[in-house]
Amino acid sequence: MDFVEQLKSSIDIVKVAGEYVRLKRVGATGRYVGLCPFHQEKTPSFSVNQTRQFYKCFGCGVGGDAIKFVEEIEGLSFWETVKMLAERYGVPMPKRSDYSDAESKLRGALMDMHAIAARLFQDNLRGPQGAEARAYLEKRGVSQEVIDTFEIGYAEPSGQALTRKLSDRIFSVEQLEASGLVRKRNEGTGYYDNFRGRLMFPIHNESGKAIAFGGRAMNDEDQPKYLNSPETPVYKKTSVLYNLHRARDAVRRSGRVVLVEGYMDVIGVYAAGVKEVVASCGTALTNGQVRTLHRHADTVVVNFDPDTAGANATEKAIQLLLDEGLHVRVVALDGGLDPDEYCKRNGAEAYVAKLDGAATYFHWLADRARTRFDMKTSEGKVAAFKFLLPAVQKISNKLEQAATVNDLASYLGVDPGLVLDQFKKSAADRRAPVPQAKPASAIPPMERILLNALLASDRARTDMLPALLPELTDTFVTREVFEGLRQVAGAGDAFSYSVLEGRLQGPGKELLRDAVTADESTGGSVSWEQAQACLRRLESDFRKRQLGELRTRVKSAEREGRVEEALSWMAELSRLERESRGTSGG
Ligand code: GTP
Ligand code: MN
Repeated sequence: MDFVEQLKSSIDIVKVAGEYVRLKRVGATGRYVGLCPFHQEKTPSFSVNQTRQFYKCFGCGVGGDAIKFVEEIEGLSFWETVKMLAERYGVPMPKRSDYSDAESKLRGALMDMHAIAARLFQDNLRGPQGAEARAYLEKRGVSQEVIDTFEIGYAEPSGQALTRKLSDRIFSVEQLEASGLVRKRNEGTGYYDNFRGRLMFPIHNESGKAIAFGGRAMNDEDQPKYLNSPETPVYKKTSVLYNLHRARDAVRRSGRVVLVEGYMDVIGVYAAGVKEVVASCGTALTNGQVRTLHRHADTVVVNFDPDTAGANATEKAIQLLLDEGLHVRVVALDGGLDPDEYCKRNGAEAYVAKLDGAATYFHWLADRARTRFDMKTSEGKVAAFKFLLPAVQKISNKLEQAATVNDLASYLGVDPGLVLDQFKKSAADRRAPVPQAKPASAIPPMERILLNALLASDRARTDMLPALLPELTDTFVTREVFEGLRQVAGAGDAFSYSVLEGRLQGPGKELLRDAVTADESTGGSVSWEQAQACLRRLESDFRKRQLGELRTRVKSAEREGRVEEALSWMAELSRLERESRGTSGG
Protein backbone atom coordinates (compact mmCIF):
# COMPACT_ATOMS: atom_id res chain seq x y z
CA MET A 1 0.00 0.00 0.00
CA ASP A 2 1.41 3.39 -0.86
CA PHE A 3 1.55 6.08 1.77
CA VAL A 4 -1.51 7.98 0.61
CA GLU A 5 -3.65 4.84 0.79
CA GLN A 6 -2.20 4.09 4.19
CA LEU A 7 -3.01 7.60 5.41
CA LYS A 8 -6.54 7.38 4.04
CA SER A 9 -7.12 4.09 5.76
CA SER A 10 -5.95 5.45 9.11
CA ILE A 11 -8.11 8.59 9.16
CA ASP A 12 -11.87 8.90 9.27
CA ILE A 13 -13.50 11.48 7.04
CA VAL A 14 -16.22 12.07 9.63
CA LYS A 15 -13.56 13.11 12.13
CA VAL A 16 -11.54 15.09 9.59
CA ALA A 17 -14.50 17.00 8.13
CA GLY A 18 -16.04 17.22 11.60
CA GLU A 19 -13.20 19.51 12.66
CA TYR A 20 -14.45 22.07 10.18
CA VAL A 21 -18.17 21.38 9.89
CA ARG A 22 -20.77 20.39 12.44
CA LEU A 23 -22.05 17.05 11.23
CA LYS A 24 -25.21 15.33 12.32
CA ARG A 25 -25.60 11.59 12.02
CA VAL A 26 -28.65 10.46 10.07
CA GLY A 27 -29.98 6.94 10.32
CA ALA A 28 -27.82 3.95 11.00
CA THR A 29 -26.04 3.78 7.67
CA GLY A 30 -23.00 5.87 8.55
CA ARG A 31 -24.27 8.96 6.82
CA TYR A 32 -23.76 12.44 8.23
CA VAL A 33 -25.08 15.79 7.06
CA GLY A 34 -24.21 19.41 7.71
CA LEU A 35 -24.05 22.85 6.18
CA CYS A 36 -21.78 22.87 3.15
CA PRO A 37 -18.60 24.81 3.89
CA PHE A 38 -18.06 25.42 0.19
CA HIS A 39 -21.16 27.44 -0.58
CA GLN A 40 -23.58 29.57 1.33
CA GLU A 41 -26.66 27.74 2.55
CA LYS A 42 -29.09 27.60 5.43
CA THR A 43 -30.29 24.03 5.13
CA PRO A 44 -27.79 21.18 5.04
CA SER A 45 -27.01 19.61 1.66
CA PHE A 46 -23.56 18.49 2.60
CA SER A 47 -23.35 14.75 3.10
CA VAL A 48 -20.52 12.63 4.44
CA ASN A 49 -20.49 8.89 3.92
CA GLN A 50 -18.55 7.10 6.60
CA THR A 51 -18.67 3.64 5.07
CA ARG A 52 -17.35 4.83 1.74
CA GLN A 53 -15.24 7.66 3.20
CA PHE A 54 -16.33 10.46 0.91
CA TYR A 55 -18.26 13.73 1.03
CA LYS A 56 -20.69 15.13 -1.46
CA CYS A 57 -22.73 18.33 -1.58
CA PHE A 58 -26.09 18.22 -3.35
CA GLY A 59 -26.21 21.98 -3.43
CA CYS A 60 -22.98 22.89 -5.18
CA GLY A 61 -21.86 19.48 -6.41
CA VAL A 62 -18.44 19.29 -4.74
CA GLY A 63 -17.24 15.94 -3.54
CA GLY A 64 -14.21 13.81 -2.80
CA ASP A 65 -12.30 12.00 -0.10
CA ALA A 66 -10.86 13.26 3.19
CA ILE A 67 -7.72 14.59 1.54
CA LYS A 68 -9.65 16.48 -1.10
CA PHE A 69 -11.84 17.98 1.61
CA VAL A 70 -8.90 19.41 3.54
CA GLU A 71 -7.19 20.52 0.32
CA GLU A 72 -10.26 22.54 -0.62
CA ILE A 73 -11.08 23.98 2.77
CA GLU A 74 -7.52 24.92 3.74
CA GLY A 75 -6.54 25.97 0.22
CA LEU A 76 -3.53 23.66 0.27
CA SER A 77 -1.87 21.51 -2.36
CA PHE A 78 -2.28 17.75 -2.30
CA TRP A 79 1.10 17.09 -0.64
CA GLU A 80 0.74 19.85 1.89
CA THR A 81 -2.56 18.30 2.87
CA VAL A 82 -1.12 14.81 3.11
CA LYS A 83 1.67 16.12 5.30
CA MET A 84 -0.68 18.08 7.51
CA LEU A 85 -3.07 15.17 8.00
CA ALA A 86 -0.20 12.80 8.69
CA GLU A 87 1.09 15.16 11.40
CA ARG A 88 -2.33 15.83 12.85
CA TYR A 89 -3.34 12.20 13.10
CA GLY A 90 0.06 10.81 14.00
CA VAL A 91 0.62 8.70 10.90
CA PRO A 92 4.39 8.40 10.40
CA MET A 93 5.32 9.80 7.04
CA PRO A 94 8.17 8.50 4.91
CA LYS A 95 10.95 11.10 4.61
CA ARG A 96 10.55 13.20 1.54
CA SER A 97 12.86 15.95 0.46
CA ASP A 98 10.42 18.83 -0.07
CA TYR A 99 7.33 20.06 -1.77
CA SER A 100 7.71 20.16 -5.49
CA ASP A 101 5.46 23.03 -6.52
CA ALA A 102 6.45 26.64 -5.93
CA GLU A 103 3.25 27.67 -4.17
CA SER A 104 3.44 24.93 -1.55
CA LYS A 105 7.10 25.70 -1.03
CA LEU A 106 6.29 29.33 -0.40
CA ARG A 107 3.47 28.52 2.00
CA GLY A 108 5.69 26.07 3.86
CA ALA A 109 8.40 28.71 4.17
CA LEU A 110 5.93 31.33 5.39
CA MET A 111 4.65 28.98 8.11
CA ASP A 112 8.22 28.24 9.17
CA MET A 113 9.02 31.95 9.32
CA HIS A 114 5.99 32.67 11.46
CA ALA A 115 6.90 29.87 13.84
CA ILE A 116 10.43 31.28 14.11
CA ALA A 117 9.11 34.81 14.62
CA ALA A 118 6.61 33.75 17.28
CA ARG A 119 9.38 31.99 19.21
CA LEU A 120 11.71 34.98 18.93
CA PHE A 121 9.01 37.41 20.14
CA GLN A 122 8.27 35.16 23.11
CA ASP A 123 11.98 34.95 23.95
CA ASN A 124 12.22 38.74 23.74
CA LEU A 125 9.37 39.16 26.18
CA ARG A 126 11.07 36.87 28.69
CA GLY A 127 14.49 38.48 28.24
CA PRO A 128 15.97 41.79 29.46
CA GLN A 129 14.53 43.71 26.50
CA GLY A 130 11.03 42.67 27.50
CA ALA A 131 10.97 44.38 30.90
CA GLU A 132 8.74 47.27 29.83
CA ALA A 133 6.35 44.99 27.94
CA ARG A 134 6.15 42.62 30.92
CA ALA A 135 5.32 45.53 33.17
CA TYR A 136 2.64 46.69 30.74
CA LEU A 137 1.00 43.27 30.68
CA GLU A 138 1.15 43.01 34.42
CA LYS A 139 -0.46 46.40 34.78
CA ARG A 140 -3.27 45.20 32.53
CA GLY A 141 -3.73 42.07 34.60
CA VAL A 142 -2.46 39.55 32.06
CA SER A 143 -0.98 36.63 33.97
CA GLN A 144 2.04 34.56 32.95
CA GLU A 145 -0.25 31.64 32.26
CA VAL A 146 -2.31 33.72 29.85
CA ILE A 147 0.85 35.06 28.22
CA ASP A 148 1.94 31.49 27.60
CA THR A 149 -1.46 30.32 26.38
CA PHE A 150 -1.74 33.12 23.84
CA GLU A 151 1.96 32.97 22.99
CA ILE A 152 2.17 36.71 23.51
CA GLY A 153 5.54 38.16 22.65
CA TYR A 154 7.46 41.35 22.13
CA ALA A 155 9.12 42.75 19.01
CA GLU A 156 12.23 44.64 20.08
CA PRO A 157 12.56 48.21 18.80
CA SER A 158 15.79 48.06 16.76
CA GLY A 159 14.14 46.39 13.79
CA GLN A 160 17.09 44.02 13.31
CA ALA A 161 16.51 40.88 15.33
CA LEU A 162 13.93 39.07 13.25
CA THR A 163 15.47 40.08 9.91
CA ARG A 164 18.80 38.72 11.10
CA LYS A 165 17.25 35.52 12.39
CA LEU A 166 15.39 34.87 9.14
CA SER A 167 18.44 35.69 7.01
CA ASP A 168 20.40 33.03 8.91
CA ARG A 169 18.15 30.45 7.35
CA ILE A 170 17.73 29.38 3.80
CA PHE A 171 14.77 31.62 3.03
CA SER A 172 14.91 33.30 -0.36
CA VAL A 173 14.46 37.01 -0.96
CA GLU A 174 11.03 36.34 -2.49
CA GLN A 175 9.98 34.36 0.56
CA LEU A 176 11.20 37.08 2.91
CA GLU A 177 9.31 39.75 1.02
CA ALA A 178 6.12 37.70 0.84
CA SER A 179 6.07 37.09 4.59
CA GLY A 180 4.98 40.55 5.69
CA LEU A 181 7.43 40.17 8.56
CA VAL A 182 10.21 42.26 7.07
CA ARG A 183 10.41 45.32 4.86
CA LYS A 184 12.83 46.37 2.18
CA ARG A 185 14.90 49.46 2.96
CA ASN A 186 14.08 52.51 0.86
CA GLU A 187 17.73 53.46 0.66
CA GLY A 188 20.60 51.08 0.36
CA THR A 189 20.08 47.37 0.42
CA GLY A 190 18.68 44.93 2.89
CA TYR A 191 15.65 44.57 5.09
CA TYR A 192 14.34 45.55 8.51
CA ASP A 193 11.62 44.21 10.82
CA ASN A 194 8.05 45.23 10.11
CA PHE A 195 7.06 45.01 13.78
CA ARG A 196 9.18 47.13 16.14
CA GLY A 197 8.66 47.90 19.80
CA ARG A 198 5.27 46.22 19.90
CA LEU A 199 3.43 43.66 21.95
CA MET A 200 2.88 40.74 19.61
CA PHE A 201 -0.23 38.56 19.33
CA PRO A 202 0.19 35.61 16.97
CA ILE A 203 -2.85 34.84 14.81
CA HIS A 204 -3.37 31.16 14.02
CA ASN A 205 -5.19 29.22 11.36
CA GLU A 206 -7.69 26.52 12.32
CA SER A 207 -4.91 23.97 12.54
CA GLY A 208 -3.19 26.09 15.17
CA LYS A 209 -0.26 27.27 13.04
CA ALA A 210 0.82 30.91 13.39
CA ILE A 211 0.10 32.67 10.10
CA ALA A 212 0.09 36.37 11.03
CA PHE A 213 0.53 38.83 13.88
CA GLY A 214 -1.29 41.70 15.49
CA GLY A 215 1.19 44.11 17.08
CA ARG A 216 -0.02 46.54 19.75
CA ALA A 217 1.79 49.79 20.39
CA MET A 218 2.78 50.27 24.02
CA ASN A 219 2.19 54.00 24.23
CA ASP A 220 -0.19 56.49 22.68
CA GLU A 221 2.45 58.21 20.56
CA ASP A 222 3.06 55.09 18.56
CA GLN A 223 0.61 54.92 15.70
CA PRO A 224 -1.23 52.96 14.60
CA LYS A 225 -2.40 51.44 17.87
CA TYR A 226 -2.47 48.06 16.20
CA LEU A 227 -0.29 47.06 13.30
CA ASN A 228 -1.52 43.90 11.63
CA SER A 229 0.18 41.56 9.19
CA PRO A 230 -0.69 42.12 5.56
CA GLU A 231 -2.58 39.52 3.59
CA THR A 232 -0.21 36.74 2.46
CA PRO A 233 -0.59 33.34 0.78
CA VAL A 234 -1.13 31.83 4.26
CA TYR A 235 -3.21 34.64 5.74
CA LYS A 236 -6.59 35.37 4.19
CA LYS A 237 -7.92 38.19 6.32
CA THR A 238 -11.50 37.78 5.29
CA SER A 239 -11.98 34.35 6.77
CA VAL A 240 -9.56 34.10 9.70
CA LEU A 241 -10.83 34.69 13.23
CA TYR A 242 -8.56 35.38 16.15
CA ASN A 243 -8.49 32.51 18.68
CA LEU A 244 -10.76 30.16 16.70
CA HIS A 245 -8.43 27.18 17.01
CA ARG A 246 -8.44 27.46 20.81
CA ALA A 247 -12.15 28.26 21.03
CA ARG A 248 -13.33 25.47 18.76
CA ASP A 249 -13.96 22.74 21.33
CA ALA A 250 -15.71 25.08 23.75
CA VAL A 251 -17.82 26.42 20.88
CA ARG A 252 -18.97 22.92 20.03
CA ARG A 253 -19.67 22.11 23.64
CA SER A 254 -21.60 25.27 24.43
CA GLY A 255 -23.29 25.62 21.04
CA ARG A 256 -22.48 29.32 20.96
CA VAL A 257 -19.63 31.57 20.03
CA VAL A 258 -18.94 34.91 21.69
CA LEU A 259 -17.82 37.52 19.20
CA VAL A 260 -15.82 40.44 20.56
CA GLU A 261 -13.93 43.27 18.89
CA GLY A 262 -10.42 43.22 20.23
CA TYR A 263 -7.48 40.91 20.83
CA MET A 264 -7.42 42.06 24.44
CA ASP A 265 -11.12 41.29 24.79
CA VAL A 266 -10.58 37.74 23.56
CA ILE A 267 -7.75 37.31 26.02
CA GLY A 268 -9.64 38.77 28.98
CA VAL A 269 -12.81 36.79 28.31
CA TYR A 270 -10.91 33.56 27.70
CA ALA A 271 -8.92 34.04 30.89
CA ALA A 272 -12.23 34.45 32.73
CA GLY A 273 -13.08 30.91 31.63
CA VAL A 274 -15.35 31.68 28.67
CA LYS A 275 -13.30 29.89 26.08
CA GLU A 276 -15.77 30.07 23.20
CA VAL A 277 -14.61 33.57 22.26
CA VAL A 278 -13.22 34.93 18.97
CA ALA A 279 -12.62 38.28 17.26
CA SER A 280 -12.01 39.46 13.75
CA CYS A 281 -8.43 40.66 13.36
CA GLY A 282 -8.05 44.36 12.73
CA THR A 283 -10.96 44.53 10.26
CA ALA A 284 -14.72 44.81 10.34
CA LEU A 285 -16.48 41.45 10.44
CA THR A 286 -16.69 39.91 6.97
CA ASN A 287 -19.03 37.47 5.34
CA GLY A 288 -16.21 34.93 5.10
CA GLN A 289 -15.66 35.10 8.85
CA VAL A 290 -19.36 34.70 9.46
CA ARG A 291 -19.37 31.55 7.38
CA THR A 292 -16.39 30.25 9.28
CA LEU A 293 -18.36 30.83 12.49
CA HIS A 294 -21.38 29.03 11.14
CA ARG A 295 -19.33 25.92 10.52
CA HIS A 296 -18.93 25.63 14.27
CA ALA A 297 -22.00 27.17 15.91
CA ASP A 298 -25.63 28.13 15.39
CA THR A 299 -25.72 30.93 17.91
CA VAL A 300 -23.49 33.99 18.02
CA VAL A 301 -23.40 36.27 21.02
CA VAL A 302 -22.13 39.65 19.90
CA ASN A 303 -20.31 41.63 22.57
CA PHE A 304 -18.67 44.65 20.99
CA ASP A 305 -17.38 47.76 22.69
CA PRO A 306 -20.07 49.98 24.25
CA ASP A 307 -19.09 53.11 22.28
CA THR A 308 -20.81 54.45 19.15
CA ALA A 309 -18.37 52.70 16.85
CA GLY A 310 -19.06 49.43 18.63
CA ALA A 311 -22.83 49.90 18.37
CA ASN A 312 -22.61 50.64 14.65
CA ALA A 313 -20.39 47.62 14.14
CA THR A 314 -22.91 45.53 16.10
CA GLU A 315 -25.71 46.63 13.78
CA LYS A 316 -23.69 45.63 10.73
CA ALA A 317 -22.64 42.35 12.31
CA ILE A 318 -26.26 41.47 13.14
CA GLN A 319 -27.27 41.81 9.49
CA LEU A 320 -24.36 39.70 8.29
CA LEU A 321 -25.03 37.01 10.87
CA LEU A 322 -28.76 36.91 10.11
CA ASP A 323 -28.04 36.66 6.39
CA GLU A 324 -26.09 33.54 7.17
CA GLY A 325 -29.03 32.12 9.11
CA LEU A 326 -27.43 32.29 12.55
CA HIS A 327 -29.21 32.94 15.82
CA VAL A 328 -27.98 36.24 17.17
CA ARG A 329 -27.90 37.58 20.68
CA VAL A 330 -26.36 40.81 21.83
CA VAL A 331 -24.78 41.58 25.17
CA ALA A 332 -24.88 45.13 26.42
CA LEU A 333 -22.52 45.54 29.35
CA ASP A 334 -23.29 48.22 31.90
CA GLY A 335 -20.91 50.94 32.98
CA GLY A 336 -19.55 51.55 29.49
CA LEU A 337 -17.11 48.67 29.92
CA ASP A 338 -15.70 46.52 27.15
CA PRO A 339 -15.64 42.75 27.71
CA ASP A 340 -12.05 42.70 28.94
CA GLU A 341 -12.63 45.46 31.48
CA TYR A 342 -15.94 43.94 32.56
CA CYS A 343 -14.35 40.60 33.35
CA LYS A 344 -11.54 42.26 35.28
CA ARG A 345 -13.86 44.56 37.17
CA ASN A 346 -16.82 42.26 37.91
CA GLY A 347 -15.38 38.79 37.64
CA ALA A 348 -16.06 35.78 35.50
CA GLU A 349 -19.37 34.85 37.10
CA ALA A 350 -20.95 38.22 36.44
CA TYR A 351 -19.78 38.07 32.85
CA VAL A 352 -21.15 34.59 32.28
CA ALA A 353 -24.47 35.75 33.72
CA LYS A 354 -24.49 38.58 31.18
CA LEU A 355 -23.83 36.14 28.35
CA ASP A 356 -26.47 33.69 29.47
CA GLY A 357 -28.99 36.49 29.80
CA ALA A 358 -28.11 38.14 26.50
CA ALA A 359 -31.17 39.49 24.71
CA THR A 360 -32.04 38.42 21.19
CA TYR A 361 -30.86 40.88 18.62
CA PHE A 362 -34.23 42.48 18.04
CA HIS A 363 -34.55 43.58 21.64
CA TRP A 364 -31.18 45.18 21.29
CA LEU A 365 -32.24 46.78 18.00
CA ALA A 366 -35.51 47.90 19.57
CA ASP A 367 -33.56 49.67 22.29
CA ARG A 368 -31.52 51.40 19.59
CA ALA A 369 -34.73 52.38 17.79
CA ARG A 370 -36.16 53.86 20.98
CA THR A 371 -33.28 56.29 21.22
CA ARG A 372 -33.59 57.20 17.57
CA PHE A 373 -37.30 57.91 17.21
CA ASP A 374 -39.78 59.87 19.21
CA MET A 375 -41.59 57.09 21.00
CA LYS A 376 -44.22 59.45 22.42
CA THR A 377 -45.93 59.75 19.05
CA SER A 378 -47.52 56.93 17.13
CA GLU A 379 -45.63 58.00 13.99
CA GLY A 380 -42.43 57.60 15.93
CA LYS A 381 -43.45 54.16 17.12
CA VAL A 382 -44.29 53.01 13.62
CA ALA A 383 -41.02 54.44 12.31
CA ALA A 384 -39.18 52.51 15.00
CA PHE A 385 -40.97 49.36 13.99
CA LYS A 386 -40.15 49.93 10.32
CA PHE A 387 -36.51 50.31 11.30
CA LEU A 388 -36.68 46.83 12.80
CA LEU A 389 -38.59 45.22 9.97
CA PRO A 390 -35.69 44.11 7.75
CA ALA A 391 -34.21 42.14 10.61
CA VAL A 392 -37.53 40.51 11.44
CA GLN A 393 -37.99 39.51 7.83
CA LYS A 394 -34.76 37.61 7.94
CA ILE A 395 -36.19 35.12 10.42
CA SER A 396 -36.84 32.16 8.18
CA ASN A 397 -39.04 30.24 10.61
CA LYS A 398 -42.56 31.64 10.12
CA LEU A 399 -43.77 30.81 13.62
CA GLU A 400 -40.75 32.42 15.18
CA GLN A 401 -41.26 35.39 12.92
CA ALA A 402 -44.89 35.85 13.94
CA ALA A 403 -43.97 35.56 17.61
CA THR A 404 -41.25 38.13 17.13
CA VAL A 405 -43.65 40.58 15.48
CA ASN A 406 -45.98 40.33 18.48
CA ASP A 407 -43.18 40.58 20.94
CA LEU A 408 -41.73 43.64 19.24
CA ALA A 409 -45.08 45.37 18.99
CA SER A 410 -45.66 45.10 22.71
CA TYR A 411 -42.06 46.00 23.49
CA LEU A 412 -42.40 49.20 21.49
CA GLY A 413 -45.96 49.84 22.63
CA VAL A 414 -47.32 49.76 19.09
CA ASP A 415 -50.81 48.49 18.24
CA PRO A 416 -50.28 44.90 17.08
CA GLY A 417 -52.93 45.29 14.33
CA LEU A 418 -51.03 48.20 12.86
CA VAL A 419 -47.84 46.25 13.01
CA LEU A 420 -49.33 43.26 11.28
CA ASP A 421 -50.64 45.47 8.44
CA GLN A 422 -47.20 46.95 7.93
CA PHE A 423 -45.68 43.59 8.00
CA LYS A 424 -48.04 42.02 5.48
CA LYS A 425 -47.63 44.95 3.13
CA SER A 426 -43.88 44.73 3.08
CA ALA A 427 -43.98 40.94 2.84
CA ALA A 428 -46.15 41.24 -0.29
CA ASP A 429 -43.72 43.76 -1.74
CA ARG A 430 -40.94 41.29 -1.62
CA ARG A 431 -40.85 38.76 -4.36
CA ALA A 432 -41.36 35.14 -3.40
CA PRO A 433 -37.98 33.45 -3.31
CA VAL A 434 -37.25 31.13 -6.21
CA PRO A 435 -36.94 27.64 -4.80
CA GLN A 436 -33.50 26.26 -5.35
CA ALA A 437 -33.79 23.03 -7.27
CA LYS A 438 -31.44 20.35 -6.13
CA PRO A 439 -29.84 18.58 -9.07
CA ALA A 440 -31.39 15.14 -9.27
CA SER A 441 -29.08 12.25 -9.79
CA ALA A 442 -28.74 11.61 -13.50
CA ILE A 443 -28.29 7.87 -12.93
CA PRO A 444 -31.35 5.80 -13.87
CA PRO A 445 -32.67 3.90 -10.83
CA MET A 446 -32.21 0.38 -12.28
CA GLU A 447 -28.62 1.10 -13.10
CA ARG A 448 -28.03 2.58 -9.68
CA ILE A 449 -29.51 -0.36 -7.83
CA LEU A 450 -27.51 -2.85 -9.86
CA LEU A 451 -24.33 -0.90 -9.24
CA ASN A 452 -24.94 -0.74 -5.51
CA ALA A 453 -25.57 -4.47 -5.42
CA LEU A 454 -22.24 -5.05 -7.14
CA LEU A 455 -20.48 -2.73 -4.69
CA ALA A 456 -22.07 -4.34 -1.67
CA SER A 457 -21.84 -8.05 -2.33
CA ASP A 458 -19.08 -10.50 -3.25
CA ARG A 459 -21.65 -12.85 -4.65
CA ALA A 460 -23.05 -10.20 -6.98
CA ARG A 461 -19.56 -9.44 -8.23
CA THR A 462 -18.57 -13.06 -8.86
CA ASP A 463 -21.92 -14.15 -10.34
CA MET A 464 -23.29 -11.14 -12.12
CA LEU A 465 -20.29 -9.18 -13.27
CA PRO A 466 -18.91 -11.77 -15.77
CA ALA A 467 -22.40 -12.21 -17.25
CA LEU A 468 -22.88 -8.51 -17.84
CA LEU A 469 -22.49 -7.75 -21.54
CA PRO A 470 -20.12 -4.89 -22.30
CA GLU A 471 -22.54 -3.81 -25.10
CA LEU A 472 -25.12 -3.34 -22.37
CA THR A 473 -22.98 -1.54 -19.82
CA ASP A 474 -21.57 0.67 -22.57
CA THR A 475 -25.01 2.22 -22.84
CA PHE A 476 -25.07 3.03 -19.12
CA VAL A 477 -24.62 6.51 -17.70
CA THR A 478 -22.24 4.86 -15.24
CA ARG A 479 -20.32 2.85 -17.88
CA GLU A 480 -16.98 4.07 -16.52
CA VAL A 481 -17.76 2.63 -13.12
CA PHE A 482 -18.70 -0.74 -14.59
CA GLU A 483 -15.52 -0.69 -16.63
CA GLY A 484 -13.64 0.04 -13.41
CA LEU A 485 -15.33 -2.91 -11.70
CA ARG A 486 -14.22 -5.18 -14.53
CA GLN A 487 -10.68 -3.88 -14.31
CA VAL A 488 -10.49 -4.53 -10.57
CA ALA A 489 -11.84 -8.05 -11.08
CA GLY A 490 -9.53 -8.61 -14.06
CA ALA A 491 -6.46 -7.51 -12.12
CA GLY A 492 -7.33 -10.04 -9.44
CA ASP A 493 -7.24 -7.32 -6.77
CA ALA A 494 -9.25 -7.84 -3.62
CA PHE A 495 -12.25 -5.57 -4.01
CA SER A 496 -12.59 -2.45 -1.93
CA TYR A 497 -14.39 0.78 -2.54
CA SER A 498 -11.18 2.77 -2.51
CA VAL A 499 -9.40 0.40 -4.92
CA LEU A 500 -12.27 0.88 -7.34
CA GLU A 501 -12.28 4.62 -6.79
CA GLY A 502 -8.55 4.68 -7.42
CA ARG A 503 -9.08 3.22 -10.88
CA LEU A 504 -11.58 5.87 -11.91
CA GLN A 505 -10.98 9.27 -13.45
CA GLY A 506 -12.67 12.39 -12.07
CA PRO A 507 -16.08 11.99 -13.78
CA GLY A 508 -16.14 8.27 -12.96
CA LYS A 509 -15.45 9.04 -9.31
CA GLU A 510 -18.33 11.52 -9.29
CA LEU A 511 -20.68 8.95 -10.77
CA LEU A 512 -19.63 6.39 -8.22
CA ARG A 513 -20.28 8.77 -5.37
CA ASP A 514 -23.60 9.85 -6.85
CA ALA A 515 -24.72 6.26 -7.16
CA VAL A 516 -23.80 5.45 -3.58
CA THR A 517 -25.21 8.64 -2.11
CA ALA A 518 -28.51 8.41 -4.01
CA ASP A 519 -28.94 4.89 -2.73
CA GLU A 520 -28.55 5.90 0.90
CA SER A 521 -32.16 7.07 0.97
CA THR A 522 -33.29 3.50 0.29
CA GLY A 523 -31.30 2.22 3.24
CA GLY A 524 -28.34 1.15 1.18
CA SER A 525 -29.00 -2.57 1.04
CA VAL A 526 -30.24 -4.26 -2.10
CA SER A 527 -31.48 -7.84 -2.03
CA TRP A 528 -30.14 -10.40 -4.43
CA GLU A 529 -33.58 -10.74 -6.04
CA GLN A 530 -33.88 -7.01 -6.52
CA ALA A 531 -30.51 -6.88 -8.19
CA GLN A 532 -31.43 -9.77 -10.49
CA ALA A 533 -34.70 -8.12 -11.38
CA CYS A 534 -32.92 -4.87 -12.22
CA LEU A 535 -30.46 -6.67 -14.40
CA ARG A 536 -33.21 -8.52 -16.30
CA ARG A 537 -35.07 -5.29 -16.82
CA LEU A 538 -31.96 -3.47 -18.08
CA GLU A 539 -31.19 -6.34 -20.43
CA SER A 540 -34.66 -6.52 -21.86
CA ASP A 541 -34.79 -2.74 -22.39
CA PHE A 542 -31.46 -2.99 -24.12
CA ARG A 543 -32.71 -5.80 -26.37
CA LYS A 544 -35.78 -3.81 -27.28
CA ARG A 545 -33.67 -0.85 -28.24
CA GLN A 546 -31.38 -3.08 -30.27
CA LEU A 547 -34.26 -4.74 -32.11
CA GLY A 548 -35.85 -1.37 -32.83
CA GLU A 549 -32.64 -0.10 -34.30
CA LEU A 550 -32.19 -3.17 -36.47
CA ARG A 551 -35.72 -2.93 -37.81
CA THR A 552 -35.09 0.66 -38.85
CA ARG A 553 -31.91 -0.40 -40.59
CA VAL A 554 -33.65 -3.24 -42.45
CA LYS A 555 -36.37 -0.84 -43.60
CA SER A 556 -34.06 1.85 -44.85
CA ALA A 557 -31.82 -0.69 -46.64
CA GLU A 558 -34.93 -2.14 -48.35
CA ARG A 559 -36.19 1.30 -49.32
CA GLU A 560 -32.89 2.24 -50.86
CA GLY A 561 -32.56 -1.07 -52.69
CA ARG A 562 -29.47 -2.32 -50.82
CA VAL A 563 -30.74 -5.88 -50.88
CA GLU A 564 -27.73 -7.69 -49.55
CA GLU A 565 -27.42 -5.35 -46.65
CA ALA A 566 -31.10 -5.71 -45.85
CA LEU A 567 -30.77 -9.46 -45.84
CA SER A 568 -27.84 -9.46 -43.46
CA TRP A 569 -29.65 -7.08 -41.05
CA MET A 570 -32.67 -9.39 -41.21
CA ALA A 571 -30.54 -12.38 -40.28
CA GLU A 572 -29.12 -10.49 -37.36
CA LEU A 573 -32.61 -9.43 -36.36
CA SER A 574 -34.02 -12.93 -36.25
CA ARG A 575 -30.97 -14.14 -34.34
CA LEU A 576 -31.59 -11.52 -31.69
CA GLU A 577 -35.30 -12.24 -31.57
CA ARG A 578 -34.59 -15.91 -31.01
CA GLU A 579 -32.13 -15.04 -28.28
CA SER A 580 -34.45 -12.70 -26.46
CA ARG A 581 -37.29 -15.24 -26.63
CA GLY A 582 -34.86 -17.73 -25.17
CA THR A 583 -34.03 -15.52 -22.18
CA SER A 584 -37.32 -13.86 -21.46
CA GLY A 585 -39.49 -16.88 -22.20
CA GLY A 586 -37.35 -19.14 -19.95
P1 GTP B 1 -7.01 47.52 24.22
O1 GTP B 1 -7.52 48.83 23.78
O2 GTP B 1 -5.56 47.53 24.54
O3 GTP B 1 -7.83 46.90 25.28
O4 GTP B 1 -7.04 46.56 22.97
P2 GTP B 1 -8.24 46.10 22.11
O5 GTP B 1 -7.78 44.85 21.46
O6 GTP B 1 -9.50 46.03 22.87
O7 GTP B 1 -8.30 47.24 20.99
P3 GTP B 1 -9.46 48.25 20.53
O8 GTP B 1 -10.66 48.11 21.35
O9 GTP B 1 -8.84 49.59 20.40
O10 GTP B 1 -9.73 47.75 19.05
C1 GTP B 1 -10.41 46.56 18.80
C2 GTP B 1 -9.73 45.86 17.67
O11 GTP B 1 -9.73 46.66 16.51
C3 GTP B 1 -8.27 45.54 17.92
O12 GTP B 1 -8.09 44.37 18.66
C4 GTP B 1 -7.74 45.44 16.52
O13 GTP B 1 -8.04 44.18 15.94
C5 GTP B 1 -8.53 46.51 15.80
N1 GTP B 1 -7.78 47.78 15.78
C6 GTP B 1 -7.74 48.72 16.73
N2 GTP B 1 -6.93 49.72 16.38
C7 GTP B 1 -6.44 49.41 15.18
C8 GTP B 1 -5.53 50.04 14.26
O14 GTP B 1 -5.00 51.11 14.50
N3 GTP B 1 -5.27 49.39 13.09
C9 GTP B 1 -5.85 48.20 12.79
N4 GTP B 1 -5.56 47.60 11.62
N5 GTP B 1 -6.69 47.58 13.64
C10 GTP B 1 -6.99 48.17 14.80
MN1 MN C 1 -11.13 47.18 23.17
